[in-house]
Amino acid sequence: MGSRRGQWVFGAVLIASAVGIALGLSIHWFPPAGSTQADKIDTLYDVLIIASVPVFVLVVSIIVFSVIFFRMRPGQELEDGPPIHGNTRLEVVWTALPAALIAGLCTYAYVVLRDIEKKPTAAQAATREMKVKVFGEQFAWTFVYPKDVAGSELTTTQLYLPIGRPVDFRLRSKDVIHDFWVPAFRLKMDAVPGIETHYRITPKRLGNYQIVCAELCGLGHAAMRNSVTVVTPARFKQWLQQQTKPAAPSGAAPAQVAAAGRKLFADNGCSGCHTLKDAGSTAQVGPDLDKFLKGKPDAFIQQSIVKPDAFIEKGYKPGIMPPNFGQTLSKDDLKTLVAYLKEVTR
Ligand code: CUA
Repeated sequence: MGSRRGQWVFGAVLIASAVGIALGLSIHWFPPAGSTQADKIDTLYDVLIIASVPVFVLVVSIIVFSVIFFRMRPGQELEDGPPIHGNTRLEVVWTALPAALIAGLCTYAYVVLRDIEKKPTAAQAATREMKVKVFGEQFAWTFVYPKDVAGSELTTTQLYLPIGRPVDFRLRSKDVIHDFWVPAFRLKMDAVPGIETHYRITPKRLGNYQIVCAELCGLGHAAMRNSVTVVTPARFKQWLQQQTKPAAPSGAAPAQVAAAGRKLFADNGCSGCHTLKDAGSTAQVGPDLDKFLKGKPDAFIQQSIVKPDAFIEKGYKPGIMPPNFGQTLSKDDLKTLVAYLKEVTR
């Protein structure tokens, strides 16, 4: 009778494990893999799911089985169980099996870690590892590109990376502990005041990915976000040139920029919320641009348009300005609008 019951439980454990594993593997736990390292980490997670689901199911099944079949029934309150002093074979098995499983998984995880932390060997200039300094401070990220990449040292709030070129992020903090996390790259590391930490990735997918601070660092921690844009090498070169050249709207005469900018400002409803003398608007829902954009760099103005909640002026609330201007404005229009705003709030 006991063995029949055992067979039922064994069958149930097998089926539940299979379902659990299938479910665990079919759910996309992470955003699309943006680095070559991400694939190896995702595989590691898959292996962990396959190894841990049966253990979980087995433990829960034994508990449920015991509760059902060995529970105390009325009248048994004063009875004692049979006098068992142990089962050497069972104890050896339940010690050795988990130990072997843990040792195997630790070894595998260590091998993966060694592999993704390895210094790349590519020697060509175009694919040579690029060291990018990352500074965390309450509550923003700044990036410094080295001379051998940007011509002269370039400090910026935008992070652009060429696809396929290995990057070594050198992390530092200007105040408290932050944590530089790009979920799409799968890696994160604390930025600790006083020391430099680092990690490597090689971007393998074009696109824009979130950067998140993953260490509670103060009131603005949740807003300490930015993004990394992975572009083609040609586009990266172009971006670098734009960053190093003093900002000049692409060839257009100032008068043209002003006219186009004024029109964009009106057409996109900016004047409905913001005061801007040049555009003749006096609305007060959002910050007064004449005041708050004065002397601000292009990067800040652009961020204020496409990611309005990245920085909120004192006295204003996040979530008011539409967050989708980055999609609704064309690249050129955005550029014109930024150039225009910079010019008229100078
Ligand atoms: Cu910086 Cu949280």
